[in-house]
Amino acid sequence: MNTKEKLELAIDHLSEVGYFVWDNFVSQDNVKKLVAIANQGSQSGVFKKAGIGKQALFQLDKGIRGDYIQWLDRNNQSEIVQDFLNEIELLKTSLNENCYLGLKDFETHFAIYPEHTFYKRHVDRFQQNAHRVISFVLYLNENWQEGHGGELALYFDDKDEKIQPVAGRLLLFRSELEHEVLMSYRKRYSITGWMLDKDMSLTFLP
Ligand code: OGA
Ligand code: MN
Repeated sequence: MNTKEKLELAIDHLSEVGYFVWDNFVSQDNVKKLVAIANQGSQSGVFKKAGIGKQALFQLDKGIRGDYIQWLDRNNQSEIVQDFLNEIELLKTSLNENCYLGLKDFETHFAIYPEHTFYKRHVDRFQQNAHRVISFVLYLNENWQEGHGGELALYFDDKDEKIQPVAGRLLLFRSELEHEVLMSYRKRYSITGWMLDKDMSLTFLP
């Protein structure tokens, strides 16, 4: 299947079922490079404990989520990170052209979940964060196996789905869907982000 066909499939699934799994979105070579960059960042102390909520409502709560994050943007020095941002930009453009979602921007970060951490059931689009429309997660876990945990559970009215966080896989889903990162028994790597219906520099406005 070529990229154009894959895109059409993604668009169909996002509008019909609310999510899409895109395997090998990033090559295994590039996964290795991204993990190396995440490890460097983590060792140099640029990863911060992730919180919940925004601005004044921001809080840290280990009982809700246990990951450490580093925001990624155009100032990032790594070519491979820039390539990924470009890919997401292209994806955003074609989602707009085909689904009229009015996506204006996106925000994204590396996430590392240490062993025995999780992110309890939640939605990404909520009152204080009303501009997230499509969530995306690029998984970077080489040799992931059943038993390592860290699956992403997606909750629908009539069923649940568990997505395995395997290296190179991009998961796209509607940000209002309830989901949960199940307990990870290994260190878990990803790049997580959101396509927004507002320019990011303005998201502090209601
Ligand atoms: C999040 C999130 C999902 C995942 O960061 O909001 O739900 O699979 N991440 O990492
Ligand atoms: Mn989430």
